Amino acid sequence: MTKQLFSAKFRAHTNIALIKYWGKRNKELFLPVTNSLSLTLDAFYTDTEVEFDTSLTSDVFYLDGVLQNDFHTAKVSRFLDLFRKEANRPNLFATVRSINHVPTAAGLASSASAFAALAGACNLALDLAIDTQTLSTFARQGSGSASRSLLGGFVEWHKGQGDDSASSYAEVFDDADWDLAMVFVIINRQAKKVDSRLGMEHTNETSPFYELWPREVAKDLEKIKPAIKAHDIDTVGTIAEHNAMKMHAMTIAANPSFTYWEPGSIEAMQIVRRLREEGISAYLTMDAGPNVKVLCRASEAERVKAAFVSRFGEEQIVIAKPGPNAYPLDKE
Ligand code: ADP
Ligand code: DP6
Repeated sequence: MTKQLFSAKFRAHTNIALIKYWGKRNKELFLPVTNSLSLTLDAFYTDTEVEFDTSLTSDVFYLDGVLQNDFHTAKVSRFLDLFRKEANRPNLFATVRSINHVPTAAGLASSASAFAALAGACNLALDLAIDTQTLSTFARQGSGSASRSLLGGFVEWHKGQGDDSASSYAEVFDDADWDLAMVFVIINRQAKKVDSRLGMEHTNETSPFYELWPREVAKDLEKIKPAIKAHDIDTVGTIAEHNAMKMHAMTIAANPSFTYWEPGSIEAMQIVRRLREEGISAYLTMDAGPNVKVLCRASEAERVKAAFVSRFGEEQIVIAKPGPNAYPLDKE
C-alpha cells in the first residue's frame, strides 16, 4: 500500500504568568486549582513540524535536531493520542521535529510554547478544524501553561468546573497593545533540577501555606484585571510580583523545602528594587527556574536592560514585547 503523509508546521510563543498556575485538581486532565493570567511574548518561541505517516509503527521525536529518548517521546506520544482519537485514527503515528527558540526546561516556559505549537500543527495536519478555545483544552493536556500559548497578549486560563475538560480553556483578556515589555535576565540556561510538574505537586502536598493559595490567586486576579484594562503598569507589576513571591514562599515552606532561586536571582531582584528607587516602573516575576523576568514599560526597557548588563553580560539579557497568537508556518 502506498504510504500517506499528513503534515503541518506551527509556531507558538512562550508566555509568562503574572498570576501563576501552581497546582492541579486533576492530574490526568491537567485541570488547575485556580485560574491564571499570563503575557505571551515575542522573543521566545517553538517551531514544530508534525508528519503523520501511515508507514510508521511508532512515533519519532526530534528536539533541536536530536532524536529523543523513550521518556521524552512517550510524553509527545501521549499528547498525539488526543489528536489520533479526535481523528479516529488510533494507529496513525508521526514524526515530530521541534526547534525551541527558548532554552529547554530552564523556567522559560519551553513546555508552554512546545505543546501549543504541537497542538496547532496536529490540528492542521489532520484537518480537524478544532477552534482555538477547544484547542487550548488539548494544549493544556501537554502542559498546563501551554493552554495560554495559543493566544497573544494577556491571556486568562479558566480553571473550569469539576472534571469537565471543556470548561478549562484559555481566552484573550487584553491585546497588550500598550507601552509594555518584559526583560528576561537569564541567570542559568541549564535544565532545572525540579521540573515544574514535580515542584507543584510536592508544594501542593507538603506546603502548609498551600491552603492559602487559591484565595490569594482569586484576590490577585480581581485586582490585576482592572489594572491591566487601565494600562496601570505599577499596579499590574506590584500584584504580579507579590503573586510570584507567594508561589516561591510556598516552595520554601514545602517539606523537604526547595527553591528555584540561585544567588544570581537574588542579585537580580536587588537590581529591580534599585530601579524602582530610581523611579523606573520595574517589577519581577519568577517561575520554575532561577531566571528573573522584569515587567516594565517598553519605552524604558533599554534602561532596565542596561541595569543588568554590567552584572550579567549583554547576551544574558533579552527584551521581549507582547507576542502574537500561534500561527502556521510554511514547511521546508
Ligand atoms: P520549562 O520551564 O522550559 O517549561 P518544564 O519542565 O515545564 O520546563 O518543561 C520542559 C519539558 O517540556 C521538557 O523536558 C520536554 O519534556 C518538554 N518539551 C520542551 N520543549 C519541547 C518541544 N519543543 N516539544 C515537545 N516537548 C517539549
Ligand atoms: C511556574 O505548565 O510547566 O510556570 O502542567 O505540569 O506541565 P505542567 O506544568 P507547567 O507549569 C507552569 C508553572 C509556572 C506558572 C505558570 O506558567 O502559570
